[in-house]
Amino acid sequence: MPTDSLIAQKDKVRRFWEAEPCGSRYLQRPDSASDGRGEEWSAKNFETHERIRYELEPYIQDFAKFESAKGRKVLEVGVGMGADYLQWLKAGAQATGVDISRESIERARLRCELAGYRDADLRLADAENLPFPDRNFDVVYSYGVMHHSPNTPQCIQEALRVLRPGGEARIMLYHHPSLTGLLLWFRYGVWRAKGLRQCVYDHLESPGTKTYTEREVLSLMQGFRKVEMRLVFSPGDLLLHEPSQRFQKPLYRWLWKVYPRWLVRQVAGPWKLFVLVTATKED
Ligand SMILES: C[S@@+](CC[C@H](N)C(=O)[O-])C[C@H]1O[C@@H](n2cnc3c(N)ncnc32)[C@H](O)[C@@H]1O
Repeated sequence: MPTDSLIAQKDKVRRFWEAEPCGSRYLQRPDSASDGRGEEWSAKNFETHERIRYELEPYIQDFAKFESAKGRKVLEVGVGMGADYLQWLKAGAQATGVDISRESIERARLRCELAGYRDADLRLADAENLPFPDRNFDVVYSYGVMHHSPNTPQCIQEALRVLRPGGEARIMLYHHPSLTGLLLWFRYGVWRAKGLRQCVYDHLESPGTKTYTEREVLSLMQGFRKVEMRLVFSPGDLLLHEPSQRFQKPLYRWLWKVYPRWLVRQVAGPWKLFVLVTATKED
């Protein structure tokens, strides 16, 4: 993609997440503490978000290994509303977090303040151009972020650059093929001769979302050794999540009710949206 198109594409991504920071739909209407822009957020809102997040994605704890980060320098790329970032702080890590969306950074900061962490190191920054020196972090963690950025290989190379030799990257990317892609294909692709990947690109979260086969992930992780991958169902694969505004019609409500989750788990094989990648930087 030419540079101008990449910049325009990134702006679309940023604007999408400014309008709906990740996970907002799991928050009840904001209540007590005011954030100064007419909206009110409380510790209770954030606790609800955290509880639902880890219920729907129980593998996060195992993947992130928060508790192993005590005293270590961790960079989280794409903190969203900061649920995982707060876990790094609670575990005693020296955690820095970045996101391209100001709204997300502000909510993450408020979440930390409400939890008693007043000096959170949260910054507005782009995963494709991280404002940190080489070999600076023990762990770089990024959950569901880099496939949204127009130049995903550049995000991964930036993670590699800022890691110290022997440091570990823990990166969740979207996998192809997946049930989520298939469901989107039934909704948007089947009548328009659009492929699964194009349906994800056009309709899953921010515009331009990419998905990768395991072989493609391996080639993205150039420069790392010990690359390990684990496929897991996303809440969307199993329709466990709250339907977004686009899926409120009675037909979708019915689908959410009758979706045979137990059977799907048995037969879906590798058609899972999330690929959890861990890799070590060469010494
Ligand atoms: C699906 S959300 C995930 C947020 C968080 N990791 C979580 O799991 O809740 C994607 C996040 O990536 C951020 N993002 C997208 N492109 C980015 C980029 N180039 N640099 C930094 N953050 C980016 C968005 O602003 C958004 O907060």
